[in-house]
Amino acid sequence: MAKTTTKTTKVATAKTEKKVEKPAVKKKILFVASESTPFIATGGLAEVIGSLSKALAATGRFDVRVVIPLFSDIKKEYRDQFTYLGNLYVHLAWRNQYCGIFTYVKDGVTFYFIDNEFYFKRPGCYGYYDDGERFAFFSRSVLEIMPFLNFYPDVMHCHDWQAALAAIYLKTNYCFREEYQFIRALFTIHNIEYQGQYSLDLLSDLFDIYGKYQYLVEYNNSINLMKGAIECCERFSTVSPKYAEEIKDPYYAHGLDPIIRNNAFKLTGILNGIDDVGYNCELDKHLYANYTPDDFSNKAVCKRELQKLLGLPEKTDTPIISMVSRLVSHKGLDLVTNVIEEILQDDVQIVILGTGDAHFEGFFTDLAKKYPDKLSANIVFNGDLSRKIYSGSDIFLMPSKSEPCGLSQMIACRYGTVPIVRETGGLYDSIKPLVNGYTFSNYNAHDMMYVVREAIANYKNKEEWKKLMYRAATTDFSWSHSAKDYEALYLDMLK
Ligand code: GLC
Repeated sequence: MAKTTTKTTKVATAKTEKKVEKPAVKKKILFVASESTPFIATGGLAEVIGSLSKALAATGRFDVRVVIPLFSDIKKEYRDQFTYLGNLYVHLAWRNQYCGIFTYVKDGVTFYFIDNEFYFKRPGCYGYYDDGERFAFFSRSVLEIMPFLNFYPDVMHCHDWQAALAAIYLKTNYCFREEYQFIRALFTIHNIEYQGQYSLDLLSDLFDIYGKYQYLVEYNNSINLMKGAIECCERFSTVSPKYAEEIKDPYYAHGLDPIIRNNAFKLTGILNGIDDVGYNCELDKHLYANYTPDDFSNKAVCKRELQKLLGLPEKTDTPIISMVSRLVSHKGLDLVTNVIEEILQDDVQIVILGTGDAHFEGFFTDLAKKYPDKLSANIVFNGDLSRKIYSGSDIFLMPSKSEPCGLSQMIACRYGTVPIVRETGGLYDSIKPLVNGYTFSNYNAHDMMYVVREAIANYKNKEEWKKLMYRAATTDFSWSHSAKDYEALYLDMLK
């Protein structure tokens, strides 16, 4: 009797099991990066980490986690809410360092923060004599906390040189252990200019890499961490298709082009998206007035208030050209400084926001004194003011010499401000001439000026200009496309 009962039960269970579809197991993705919004941001990298992780988690198909250092500049409002999980000691060459782990869940993404006051209790994120050691410790910690968290990702997605060693250590030290053997590494280059280069003497003493692995990180007689990550990862990517092509060329590659060309078979370019809820002219609380692509009338309020705020004459029909940028040469400032006085002869106002090289800061400050009615130079980094400028201006200038992706041209579009860009990297991929902006191809000041003048002239044609603003404001820069591309890349890596 007993036997029969068991048999019947088994058959019954098998039948029910057929009917119930098991939910697919989520793929585990771990982002390794040095910064992420909303906690700490010095540039576009942080925005991508914050918004891409959120977009991937929102698909419901990924368990997305992010690990960053616990810098002391992390906003207190968040830090106070972090949960302490525990600590361990991390071995690196002869060092044995404390590693505390904090966590916080936001928008479906689990964040981890690596705590070590000796390395991270300092103002800012970078620029210290021991950055190599700080990020070596960070990268090593990422691998060491996995057993503690009992979380071994399917894909460890490392971003920029600060996380390069995580991909390198995985291949040199960890992948031989059972739990780590299936982790795949993806390395994303956000900017090839910063490669993490150090003297070869530091190889074993600082980075804990020995003889047989030297060839992986050695390049031009130095340690090059970006090169090492490219060699060690299963795949690498960069933040636009055009930049993926460009970095094969010495003009863009800052010396790494032979490495990129040799590894091109595993390179992909995926254009960044932006957080289209965060940047929305209809909802943004920072604006003087909200508006929509169907009714731009309140954009005039934003413009008038901006002019008032910056002490510029309140002229409705004079186009405002803005630049929100780090004031450094590769953002195209050499072109701007060359012809800006010629452009100022036209009926325009120019607004600059940003900090950077002292000579550009000084140049714009002096010029604002010379043309107080036409130029406003704001040598600060100010998120609130940047949104008032994006919304209150008419034209956004971004003539970068190189631009891996660039986010500002997309943000400008979202506020109905028409971008003028040079056709490079993500600027080329996101802005199409007369569809949603203006473009020029050669890195030449007069080519830029020609297009600026074309835009100023077209601005007078109100009806056509409104259509252009509409097309710019309604271009889809959300993560929906790019998150799909990352998803496809992850799945391909896991085949
Ligand atoms: C870097 C690049 C920028 C890109 C950003 C995010 O800051 O310079 O072009 O948009 O990373 O990927």
